[in-house]
Amino acid sequence: MTTDTAAQAAYVVAALLFILSLAGLSQHKTSRSGVVWGIAGMVVALAATVGLASRSITASGLVLIVVATALGAGIGLWRARVVEMTGMPELIAIMHSLVGLAAAFVGWNGYLDVDAELSGSLLGIHHAEVFIGVFIGAVTFTGSVVAYLKLSARINSRPLTLPGKHILNIGALVAFVGLTVAFVVRPGMGLLIAVTVIALALGAHLVASIGGGDMPVVVSMLNSYSGWAAAASGFLLANNLLIVTGALVGSSGAYLSYIMCKAMNRSFISVIAGGFGTPAASADDDEQGEHREINAEETAELLGNATSVIITPGYGMAVAQAQYPVAELARKLRDRGVEVRFGIHPVAGRLPGHMNVLLAEANVPYDIVLEMDEINDDFAATSVVLVIGANDTVNPAATDNPSSPIAGMPVLHVWEAANVIVFKRSMAAGYAGVQNPLFFRENTQMLFGDARQRVEDILRGLDSLDAPVREMAGTTR
Ligand code: TAP
Repeated sequence: MTTDTAAQAAYVVAALLFILSLAGLSQHKTSRSGVVWGIAGMVVALAATVGLASRSITASGLVLIVVATALGAGIGLWRARVVEMTGMPELIAIMHSLVGLAAAFVGWNGYLDVDAELSGSLLGIHHAEVFIGVFIGAVTFTGSVVAYLKLSARINSRPLTLPGKHILNIGALVAFVGLTVAFVVRPGMGLLIAVTVIALALGAHLVASIGGGDMPVVVSMLNSYSGWAAAASGFLLANNLLIVTGALVGSSGAYLSYIMCKAMNRSFISVIAGGFGTPAASADDDEQGEHREINAEETAELLGNATSVIITPGYGMAVAQAQYPVAELARKLRDRGVEVRFGIHPVAGRLPGHMNVLLAEANVPYDIVLEMDEINDDFAATSVVLVIGANDTVNPAATDNPSSPIAGMPVLHVWEAANVIVFKRSMAAGYAGVQNPLFFRENTQMLFGDARQRVEDILRGLDSLDAPVREMAGTTR
């Protein structure tokens, strides 16, 4: 068997492992094995690629590849170990930016180092691949950098609203198509520089125009773009595995974007056009009335007398790492005969499935963790809802106020319950920068402080509620 045949066979194995990985990652229970399949696929892919490359490059080139791989793997390992769960989206965004940058470089390299054997229509196809690769790569690069800056709160998450922003986006796309034709007919560095600059500006503008509440869709969309950028590089490098892997990432990212759009009631086309980030009419910081406060002991008493409780966690639960005491609270209440369920909004937290991962980590049984659609009709018959560090995902303005920047986004109807307790540290707005009228409703009470500490206080409160019961039980024995 030649090296080439062995490498192609290994590529097929790696591609199958990547498909198994995606299948595994599609469900909580199998997600760990999904990650293992993915690692195995990547090891096979790297080994086959280095083996293939070793035929045509010098020993010093091979050393450089091994050093670069070790360096990249080392940095990846270190970042993955130290990253906080809440920092995952920005880490993913910055990784996407690297994929985009690599694709743009591969495109430029394809222009500077054209295979001398290419001629006629094959050369034209090559130049089209170069142009498309550079374009997708550069859009992905700056789009992901802006997403990183927004997600890590290094820049404001409010949408940028340049006058005529849609015209600017469409103009950039039209210029891309025109320049591609010109480049295929008569390739030149000037045209490639022009498309690079246009794509860099377009990527930054598309993501900057999108408001904070819509960032989940942006992250999955950039995920998809990074896949297509990798596939474009695969065509240029004539690497089948890169084409297959890029297409897998591109299409799964596109499907995830579609699911996100449905969950957030957004149009898929508007997302791709980067135009759905409605301008924040106002920060809505104006007084919306009086809010009422409650303390942990009173909350414990309320919970002790409740028949049904729904817990709706959000980003604040992740920040406070409150999932363990929250799981303990659910256990204690269930032991007392209270019906306890969790209501999970599809974009609660900062990455898809964020809350599910945290609750699974704290061993909350899967069967009491329900999706928004499964639980939204049950709030009206619920005694107490605990909103733990959630804000945008429980904001009634999304349904009541058509001029709100989050109007139309489906939210958890927590306000329909008899009592709503909101755990947060202040009256500050959520990620979308929109004030929440829920906090001022008559059946809502605010429990201020760090979510973890407040839940632990409630656990102690429940213990002291039980104490007289236990003492009485002791005396009768
Ligand atoms: P957010 O709207 O982000 O609000 C979180 C709330 O948690 C804040 O109001 C904050 O209020 C509170 N908080 C923070 N730290 C806390 C702590 N230690 N203890 C108690 N409370 C704390 O949360 P959400 O409802 O989960 O909504 C998610 C938002 O992120 C949506 O707008 C979504 O579109 C966006 N987003 C989601 C994703 C994905 S894929 N899930 C990705 C990017 C963006 P205080 O500061 O007053 O405490």
